[in-house]
Amino acid sequence: MSNNGYRVAVVGATGQVGTLMLALLRERGFPAREIVPFASERSIGRELDGGLTVQGLSEESIQGFDLALFSAGGSTSGEWAPRFADAGAVVIDNSSRWRMHDDVPLVVSEVNPDALAGHHGIVANPNCSTMQLVVAIAPLHEEAGIERLVISTYQAVSGTGKRAVDELLDQSHALLHERDIAAPDVYAHQIAFNALPHAGSFPDGDDHTDEERKLINETRRILADPSIRVSATCVRVPVVNGHSEAVNVQTRRELTPERARELLDGAPGVTVLDDPAAALYPLAIDASGQDDVFVGRIRRDPGHERALDMWVVADNLRKGAALNAVQLAELLDERGLIAPRRAPTVA
Ligand SMILES: NC(=O)c1ccc[n+]([C@@H]2O[C@H](COP(=O)([O-])OP(=O)(O)OC[C@H]3O[C@@H](n4cnc5c(N)ncnc54)[C@H](OP(=O)(O)O)[C@@H]3O)[C@@H](O)[C@H]2O)c1
Repeated sequence: MSNNGYRVAVVGATGQVGTLMLALLRERGFPAREIVPFASERSIGRELDGGLTVQGLSEESIQGFDLALFSAGGSTSGEWAPRFADAGAVVIDNSSRWRMHDDVPLVVSEVNPDALAGHHGIVANPNCSTMQLVVAIAPLHEEAGIERLVISTYQAVSGTGKRAVDELLDQSHALLHERDIAAPDVYAHQIAFNALPHAGSFPDGDDHTDEERKLINETRRILADPSIRVSATCVRVPVVNGHSEAVNVQTRRELTPERARELLDGAPGVTVLDDPAAALYPLAIDASGQDDVFVGRIRRDPGHERALDMWVVADNLRKGAALNAVQLAELLDERGLIAPRRAPTVA
C-alpha cells in the first residue's frame, strides 16, 4: 500500500451487495485512497451517493488497482476477475464462479482466515446460506466433530437480486388490493404468500438445486472436512431480507445443548438469542441490518443421541456477502497479502 491507502475497484457497485460494500468500506474506515465503482454498460456515468461516478469495464479502466471487490454475477467474474488479478489487483469475488477452484481460497473471516495466505490473486466469498451456517457450526465442529448436517433454509428474496425484491413487493401489493398479479418473471411461481422448494435452479437434470449443491460442497470445503455428510433443502420464502435456517447437527462426540450454547455465546460473529418461553429467538426482520449471525432454539434432537437442532438467522446481504468481503479485505491488509499474484488458470 502506498502510505495514503489502496486503490479499490467495486464491480457491481449499483447492485444490492455492491451498494453495501461501498457503504461498509467507508463506515469501517478501510484504508482506501480511491474507490472506483464499476457496473454494466447501462449504468456508466451514473452518479452514486457520495459523488462517485460509475465506470465501465475495459482493459484500460481496470489498470492500477490494489484490490477489486466483485458482486456482478458469475459470468462477469469469470471474465473480469482474472484480468484484474493479471493487472495486479487482489480480487474478492461474491459470485459462485471461483468458489470451488483449487487455486482460489474460499474464506469466512471468523472460520478459516488462514486460507487467505494461499491466494493467487482471487479470493472467493461463499454463498450466503453457507456463510451463516459455517459461522454458527464451526465452534461445534471444533469441539465435537460434525458427522452429519440436515439443513432446511428459508431464504429471503433479496438473495436473488433487486428484481426479485420488486417481484415480491409488486405481487403482494396487487394481491392485497385484490388485483391479478403479472405472470411471475424471476421465480417459477408466485412468491407472495407462498413458499417455493426451489431456491436456485435445477441444472442438467439434477434433483438438487445449485443452491443446495453449493451449501453441501462449500460447507465441506470451508470446514476442510469432506467426510461431513450434508443434506440440504433450500426454500424461497416471501421475506425481503434475512435468511433463516433450521439445522440438525449430528456430532461424532457428545455435545449437550448447554455446552453448544456456551460455545456459541463466546464465538466471534455470533449472538445467541435463546429463551423460547419468552418468545426470544432469532428473526429475519431483526437480523436484517445487523452484522452478526444469530442462533437460537438450541435443543436436543429427540431422534438421535448425538444430535442437536437449532435455528440460524443472518442478513444475507451483509454477513452473507458484503460484510464478509470487506472483512476479508481488512484481513488481507492486516496480513500484508494485498500484493500482485499470478491469476489462476481459467478452468
Ligand atoms: N444477494 C445476496 O444475498 C448475495 C449473497 C451472496 C452473493 N451474492 C452474489 O453477488 C452478486 C450480486 O448480487 P446482488 O444481489 O447485488 O445483485 P443485483 O442487485 O442484481 O446487482 C447486480 C450488479 O451487477 C452489475 N452487473 C450486471 N451485469 C454486469 C456486467 N455485464 N458487467 C458489469 N456489471 C454488471 C449490475 O450493474 P447494473 O446496475 O448496471 O445492471 C449491478 O451493479 C451475484 O453474483 C450474487 O450471486 C449475492
